[in-house]
Amino acid sequence: MAWTATATLCCRLIRLPSARRPPPSRARCFATQSPDAVDKEYADLNLRPLYTNRGQHLRIRQHVNPLSSSFSEPTEPPDWKEVFEDPLLPLMVDIGCGSGRFLIWHAKNSGQRRNYLGLEIREKLVERTQFWVNELGLRNIYFMFANATVSFEKIISSYPGPLSLVSILCPDPHFKKRHHKRRVLQPPLVDSITKNLCLGGQVLIQSDVLEVAADMRERFDGYSDILEHVDCVDKDLHCDNEGWLLDNPMGIRTEREIHAELEGATIYRRMYQKIRDASH
Ligand SMILES: C[S@@+](CC[C@H](N)C(=O)[O-])C[C@H]1O[C@@H](n2cnc3c(N)ncnc32)[C@H](O)[C@@H]1O
Repeated sequence: MAWTATATLCCRLIRLPSARRPPPSRARCFATQSPDAVDKEYADLNLRPLYTNRGQHLRIRQHVNPLSSSFSEPTEPPDWKEVFEDPLLPLMVDIGCGSGRFLIWHAKNSGQRRNYLGLEIREKLVERTQFWVNELGLRNIYFMFANATVSFEKIISSYPGPLSLVSILCPDPHFKKRHHKRRVLQPPLVDSITKNLCLGGQVLIQSDVLEVAADMRERFDGYSDILEHVDCVDKDLHCDNEGWLLDNPMGIRTEREIHAELEGATIYRRMYQKIRDASH
């Protein structure tokens, strides 16, 4: 699994009651040294049996090249009335959502106050997550097979409700300098996220690779007239001296986060909040 190579106000938007929050990451890391750690973390979703019963065995490519011609055209937005029960609810978008468990967990536990959209470039993952969503009967979550780098603007600008939260969690690092252009977070995507976020809307970035986290941070820090870095999510969760959040504010870890912490890695996280529109 190893890679080769301020507002207190904001916390109301995404923080869960402390009872649902995991203990500090480090403590957890050593408590769950098991290959089944992901299944354990998401045990209440009980997703694996659902797919096994269908008799499908999933063979998923480890990586795809987002710069290949097959991913160069933006994906068309869905008919939002078809995919969400209430398409006017605030929307959370998870970019590069992987297996989708993280977002499904939120959709199931949200009490329908928000819609959830996962964007993922590996089609088979999306087929499986959408199968899970249908089996669970959830009407506040949808997964799309899309290259988020080129499709985000077209998809999200058509959503009828407010964009309240965007997460980019442990994106593929593409370590080699000549491959940095394959990273999902490119300047037009940062621009589109910043523009489409509603006032008070938030961005959460995280990576277990410091260089990748710093790259994303530099891009969002460049919008400091519009986006404010959230130094303190609440009294229990603030940043270290370097400006990285000391713990996970989301109530559950992503799959990559679980594996990285099992390996003893540090997760670098940062949150932003939109404080004004660009035109002001
Ligand atoms: C390392 S995984 C992390 C998945 C998940 N966020 C997590 O933390 O467990 C990165 C994911 O981003 C997806 N991805 C990479 N480039 C993408 C792009 N341009 N658009 C959408 N998804 C992308 C990959 O297919 C992969 O599933």
